[in-house]
This record gives sequence, C-alpha cells and structure tokens, in this order.
Amino acid sequence: MNVLVTAASKHGATAEIAEAVGRVLTEHGHVSSVVAPEEVIHVDDFDAVVIGSAVYAGHWLKPAKELIERTQERLVAIPVWTFSSGPIGDPAKPDEDPVDVADVLSAVNSTEHMLFAGKLDKETLGFAERAITKALKAPDGDFRDWDAISAWATAIASELAEPGGP
Ligand SMILES: Cc1cc2nc3c(=O)[nH]c(=O)nc-3n(C[C@H](O)[C@H](O)[C@H](O)COP(=O)(O)O)c2cc1C
Repeated sequence: MNVLVTAASKHGATAEIAEAVGRVLTEHGHVSSVVAPEEVIHVDDFDAVVIGSAVYAGHWLKPAKELIERTQERLVAIPVWTFSSGPIGDPAKPDEDPVDVADVLSAVNSTEHMLFAGKLDKETLGFAERAITKALKAPDGDFRDWDAISAWATAIASELAEPGGP
C-alpha cells in the first residue's frame, strides 16, 4: 500500500513521530511518504493516510487542519489514522483528554485517534510559549514512547496488509 504519513509540528517532536511511523510501515513492506502537511497538495495517489499534529492549547495545529480541509473529498474515501502528541511529564499531563479532535474525526474516514506523549525543550520555545509552560509548571523533557509509537504503526501496517484492506 502507498501510505502518506504527515504531521503538523512546531518544534519538530511530532514530525519525528511521523518519521518513525513511516519507517515502521516501510519495514512492513508498504511504500510510505513522510511529508509535512503544508507541503501536501493532494492525496490522490495514496491508498491510506496517517495524519497527526502536536497539541497546542487543546487543539491541532493549523497545517494539519487545513490539509484535511483541502483533501477531505479523498480522505472520506480511503482509510485514515489520526494521532496527536502533547502530554508532558511522568505521569503525563494533562491527563484529561487534552485535544479536541471531534471535528477532525468527523471530517475523515476515521474513528480512531491515538494520543502520544510529547517533548518539551524550553531552549527551543519562544517568549510567550516559555511563559505559558512556566505558568503550567510543565517539565522539560522527552516523554515520547517509541515502543508505543512503533506498536501503533505495526498495527496499522497489519491492517493495511489484510486481504481486502482495512
Ligand atoms: C505553549 C504550549 C502549549 C501547549 N499546549 C498543550 C496542550 O494544550 N495539551 C497538550 O497535551 N500538550 C500541550 N503542549 C505540549 C506540546 O504538545 C508538546 O510539547 C509537543 O510534543 C510539541 O510538539 P512539536 O515539537 O511537534 O511542536 C504545549 C506546549 C507548548 C509549548
């Protein structure tokens, strides 16, 4: 299967999750293209799409939402998996549902949404972002769970390989 993996990312952590998902799909025999959402013009050539975003203030970033808007006609016709990356710390916070993806899920052919922990490096943040994370007492660190990411991507690869598709 020819799969697009795309994730909106401000500071690179979620883009690296997309790269890891793409690698796993390739290892399992699929053809995967990992492309930033702002660079995707159409998705007509793909059999399936994995789309994600970093979470900022409870929402997906614009490039991921805009990609869904401009390719929605095709996204309702092919399998789509969605993921978000955000919660920080151990245990990860916020622990309530940190992202509003109801609109995203209803816009595409997907009921599944996976939430992964994120990464915070204060050195890379702008002034306002630093103030927000300080106010929230968000800890610095890389909390991404590569085993969970790999397991999720492996499950997608298996579903795509099933006779008759997902
Ligand atoms: C200003 C700011 C606001 C954030 N808001 C949220 C939030 O509402 N929910 C959440 O789970 N994570 C939140 N995060 C954490 C980010 O989603 C996390 O750091 C993510 O891994 C960043 O991904 P990126 O490097 O791809 O941009 C926030 C981080 C910053 C800096």
